[in-house]
Amino acid sequence: MTDSIAGYAKEASSLLVTYERIPPDTLHRPVWHLIPTIPSRVLDIGAGSGRDAAHFAAMGHQVLAVEPVDALREGAMKLHPSPRIEWLADTLPSLERVRARGETFDAVLATAVWMHLDERERADAMPAVASLVASGGVLILSLRHGPIPPGRRMFDVSAEETIALAAREGLACLVNAVTGSVQAKQPDVTWTRLGFRK
Ligand SMILES: C[S@@+](CC[C@H](N)C(=O)[O-])C[C@H]1O[C@@H](n2cnc3c(N)ncnc32)[C@H](O)[C@@H]1O
Repeated sequence: MTDSIAGYAKEASSLLVTYERIPPDTLHRPVWHLIPTIPSRVLDIGAGSGRDAAHFAAMGHQVLAVEPVDALREGAMKLHPSPRIEWLADTLPSLERVRARGETFDAVLATAVWMHLDERERADAMPAVASLVASGGVLILSLRHGPIPPGRRMFDVSAEETIALAAREGLACLVNAVTGSVQAKQPDVTWTRLGFRK
């Protein structure tokens, strides 16, 4: 099993409920203006319950939702049976199956995912992810800071490191914001919200 997904399969049934309670536009407020408003191709990496994928599909976007944890992906497909969402099992850093399709996307999201990757994986993941962003397209990432939940593998990843990795791949940083957690029970957790354009 990939280390970065440790803990998710075991908790899938409760996470499918918890994630669905979070309104996407509130969660992603600092970067929401970067989401295309005309029907576009969106890639959601580490799509979890499919909450964001479903929101984007309802906006008219065609979404490729990538989720490596079978129990989350299968639960999400049942929650959000939209013809505008295609689900795929694949994993950062290589995203081999996504890249094998030869597509690029107008918006690529990896929210609440990047900090599960270790330093080597983050360095490998950025070129892979950047290659999937269409010219003029956006990349949206978020980084969690604070106590690590039991059973999870997580690193305190800086905005500076992430912005430098992205810059090497031709991604210019447009948003670098720090917010609190939208989940009331996590007062000691903060998030860095990053948005880039290629
Ligand atoms: C905290 S959840 C966030 C889910 C969703 N993006 C959201 O914002 O609600 C992290 C997600 O990333 C997935 N994940 C963890 N490691 C991953 C990896 N190496 N590649 C792709 N997804 C991964 C997990 O299975 C989980 O669904």
